[in-house]
Amino acid sequence: MRTPVILVNFKAYPEALGPRGLALAKACAEVADRAGASVVIAPAATDLARIGHEVRIPVFAQHLDAIEAGAHTGWLPPEAALEAGAAGAILNHSERKIPVKDLKAVIPRCDTLGLEVVCCADTVREAEAIASLSPPYVAIEPPELIGGNISVTKAQPSVVSGAVERIRRANPKVEVLCGAGVRTGRDVSRAIELGAVGVLLSSAVVKAHDPSKALADLAKGLR
Ligand code: G3P
Repeated sequence: MRTPVILVNFKAYPEALGPRGLALAKACAEVADRAGASVVIAPAATDLARIGHEVRIPVFAQHLDAIEAGAHTGWLPPEAALEAGAAGAILNHSERKIPVKDLKAVIPRCDTLGLEVVCCADTVREAEAIASLSPPYVAIEPPELIGGNISVTKAQPSVVSGAVERIRRANPKVEVLCGAGVRTGRDVSRAIELGAVGVLLSSAVVKAHDPSKALADLAKGLR
């Protein structure tokens, strides 16, 4: 994905499922086009294939399982996301944690398949540990700020800059995103000032009265 970036996680919000998810994806793609901004979306697994084939911006899975395609009922192997048109995946979100031993297996497999990984971390310490597994991106997100009105860049700027610093030292190839409570263009530009290459966000767009307007305002922070 091109950076600086806004990664919009659709989660399982009702506003982002089925036909509403497709409409939201198209709205995000239009804003990205109009603003010349790098926007990536992560729809629910059930909508991944349809959305992946209908919009031209990168589409990510919200989660993948550390298994190979085969006899695994109800699981989501990286191959399934690839076939659905995904360009990458969010892994280890605080709402869908993955054991470290599974991250060790799935991160290199995604790399082999050409799927870009944004691996989440709840703390600076976890971010540093994950950086040693060499995902292309680590997203630092303090869980207590997720879904709230105060951005991590305001409430805990040292968590963002601390993650950037520790990850640079641990593995300079890994880039950092931050998220939790990101709501405005100023929150986005502050994330970049703190050393992140983008933001991971959800409710500010998905739950907005006018998601296109909300995303267009956020995208101003990328400039
Ligand atoms: O994955 C992004 C997310 O956890 C942050 O959510 O609603 O605080 O932007 P939100």
